[in-house]
Amino acid sequence: MVMKIDEPDKLIAANKGGTIIFGQNNDCVIAASDPAAFEPFAIKKKRILGDNEIAVISAEGWEIFKEAKTEEEDFFSAKSDIGDFLFFMEKEIFEQPKIFSNTIAGRFIFEQGLPRLDGIEDFARELRNVKNFHFVGCGTAYNACRYAALLFNRFGIAARAWIASEFCYSHPVFDPTDAFVFISQSGETADTIEVINEIKIKGNICLGIVNVPGSRIWRETDAGIGIRAGKEKGVASTKAFTSQLATIVMLAVFLARQRKMTIDTGQRIINELKKIPDKIEIILRDADRIKELAKKYACFRNYYFLGRYFHSVTADEGSLKLKEISYVHAEGYPLGEMKHGPLALIEPDFCSVVIIPDDPIFKKGIVNIHEIKGRNGTVLAITDKKKGISPADDTINIPTTIDYLSPILTTIPTQLFAYYMALEFGCNPDKPRNLAKTVTVN
Ligand code: BG6
Repeated sequence: MVMKIDEPDKLIAANKGGTIIFGQNNDCVIAASDPAAFEPFAIKKKRILGDNEIAVISAEGWEIFKEAKTEEEDFFSAKSDIGDFLFFMEKEIFEQPKIFSNTIAGRFIFEQGLPRLDGIEDFARELRNVKNFHFVGCGTAYNACRYAALLFNRFGIAARAWIASEFCYSHPVFDPTDAFVFISQSGETADTIEVINEIKIKGNICLGIVNVPGSRIWRETDAGIGIRAGKEKGVASTKAFTSQLATIVMLAVFLARQRKMTIDTGQRIINELKKIPDKIEIILRDADRIKELAKKYACFRNYYFLGRYFHSVTADEGSLKLKEISYVHAEGYPLGEMKHGPLALIEPDFCSVVIIPDDPIFKKGIVNIHEIKGRNGTVLAITDKKKGISPADDTINIPTTIDYLSPILTTIPTQLFAYYMALEFGCNPDKPRNLAKTVTVN
């Protein structure tokens, strides 16, 4: 902030990645970098100076002169041309390294091992006292909710996931102090909005993790985080999913740092998140081989996608992608559950895509693969195990990362596999039959 010698009654403020907040009451205008500074003053009006914004402050108030294009303007003015890609889905899959970087850009205070999430800062104090988090969404966003619940629990924070269309009719039990996090790419999904309306009656904190700025869920929630994935035109969500996972990790670390997580752990996760775009790039370089595998496996009409722990989420998302755009029957299932029923379907022309990274439960997964191979089932494995998985018929290798970040990487081969399978069957991956990008009725 600066002051011109000849205009001592005005301050000029410019913001580049910092925090500048203005507050006004009947007597004065205050500028501060910490919301706590306003407590002694009965503030009537408040304004956070956004990134790349400049303001002139006087006793009458403030004027924002160079208003950066709002996220909304940025989002809607962005040209989404298909470039050299065949379909938007392909473009959006290959955009993920850039989009992921964009989602996390400028959102860390590394020295504190802390994400900076402007959208929810005002609720930081309340969120510190929340004992239970509920994640609510539909389709791919519901799979992101499942990931969030697993990650929060991993960080010692109680959380669970809800399918939005089930919530209002399943007599959910929750505490008035619980917080709800609504995940939605479009921000317009009717089933999710129905739950927001219900929770607003109950008075719980409602947060949003949304892609489309200014959308209904963006507006209706108390606070939220934009995932910055840009326009997603393919009906089957891809880049929005990996950006949702990135945003969930940042939210989880933010809340865990308020609780027991140390600076070191926070910094380790931030460092690893920053390596993810390059690791996605490495997987995308293997696209031609995954295309060959889709050609080879196009003869199968029934699929299981299987994984344990975090990868039961990737399994569900992988099976959803194959269903959505290639119309092949595919079911996601926790790998350890196979012997309790689903194994009955296994026969040579039933393919199992097993997501099995080299993590603490790897050996258990290998036993399950032997159970499938023991019934002459076909196994396509996705792993970061260097030499691949010997009992599997084929293996797709991915780079290694922290186990709870690995779903961000294991998702990519399942997106490509589904996309190339759709092309094998001559389907239009951008406009799959019977589906819409946003379902605004329920
Ligand atoms: C479906 C889309 O209509 O809605 C899916 O086809 C999506 O891709 C689901 O995951 C939920 O949409 P949203 O916009 O709330 O994330």
